[in-house]
Amino acid sequence: MRVARSIDDLRPLVGRCVLVPTMGALHDGHVALVRRGVELADRRGLPGGCVVSVFVNPTQFDDPSDLDRYPRTLEADQAACATAGAAAVFAPGVDEVYPDGAESALIDPPPPGVGKGLEDEHRPGHFAGVCTVLSRLFELIRPIAAVFGEKDWQQLVVTRALVDRDGLGVEIIGEPTVREADGLAMSSRNRFIPDGRREAALSISRALRAAGAEQDPPSAERAMRDVLIGGGVDSIDYAVVRDARTLGPVTPDPLVERRALITARVGPVRLLDNAAWIPTPA
Ligand code: PAF
Repeated sequence: MRVARSIDDLRPLVGRCVLVPTMGALHDGHVALVRRGVELADRRGLPGGCVVSVFVNPTQFDDPSDLDRYPRTLEADQAACATAGAAAVFAPGVDEVYPDGAESALIDPPPPGVGKGLEDEHRPGHFAGVCTVLSRLFELIRPIAAVFGEKDWQQLVVTRALVDRDGLGVEIIGEPTVREADGLAMSSRNRFIPDGRREAALSISRALRAAGAEQDPPSAERAMRDVLIGGGVDSIDYAVVRDARTLGPVTPDPLVERRALITARVGPVRLLDNAAWIPTPA
């Protein structure tokens, strides 16, 4: 497996690969994305295979201390990518991605209409940073397709809108969330859940399951809050049911896919999770 620090090192794969963009600290959820990328590249006969970018993107952090403590585990990440069959890890420095400075590279995220009141409101500037780095990575690597985890559902929706708006010509693929045996969605931040608070963190996936037992969105939202509060999370940013494609309010059309989305804090960790909202008949 190739390890590329600059786009020149990656040149033979550029324009003929599938990209899995990550910020490193890879866990089994990322490995599932890489395996999907490898399989897709194989199936499409792409000679560049699957490229995994590992870049802790400074423009998407609203809190500098969050950026500082973001785990950096490049050696282990390389080993995981090699085992999963990746053709290359692209681990550029900040200057490679933003040669004219990170601030001057910033682009606008696609306008709301693509969901409001979720991460866009709770992490202002976050999606500008995500869209900026993805535009740069797509411009440098020119992948045929890119694979993203469904755990960051709004990121997936925003990325699709970005590609449409800017005509980036990259197919965006979503891969289902990988969970621990007890139901916790895998995340690089799980390692910061304080000892003794796992039960509170688990109330997030329990709340998503409870939502499915309700027959209408307001009841589902109430049920999620009840489970989260009962489970002892420290605060809830949102626990909502939305149109899965636009992230706007749910319409009465039962054929439109819906998604239940939660973000809650447990100690210092902000945990996100979501699931299809498909009410089970009473
Ligand atoms: O989901 C992530 O890890 C990041 O937001 C991404 C897509 C790699 C952009 O930095």
